[in-house]
Amino acid sequence: QGTWHEAAALGALNEGEPHGIEIAGHHIALYRVGNEYYATSNICTHAEALLSDGILDGCEIECPLHMGRFDIRTGEALTSPVEIDIRTYPVRVAGDRLEVCLS
Ligand code: FES
Repeated sequence: QGTWHEAAALGALNEGEPHGIEIAGHHIALYRVGNEYYATSNICTHAEALLSDGILDGCEIECPLHMGRFDIRTGEALTSPVEIDIRTYPVRVAGDRLEVCLS
């Protein structure tokens, strides 16, 4: 039973452009892939770079600092040097807004 928070206007989320936000102290990166939306922690588990500054390749986000990759659907750490998965958050579309579930 999580709490849903408004995260962004859908119009602000463009394909291939990760979008960093902060909600209630959570640093979150939002992604759009086609008509699907995803949310992960925005902080790389390797050395705290912001993933929203990285490059989105399909469903993989590449960290801007040391090029480690995560799967944005599962948070799985995919390539060296990242080893620890990132948290993912459930998302839902509500009208013209994207909402993220915290907790
Ligand atoms: Fe992200 Fe090093 S800080 S790979």
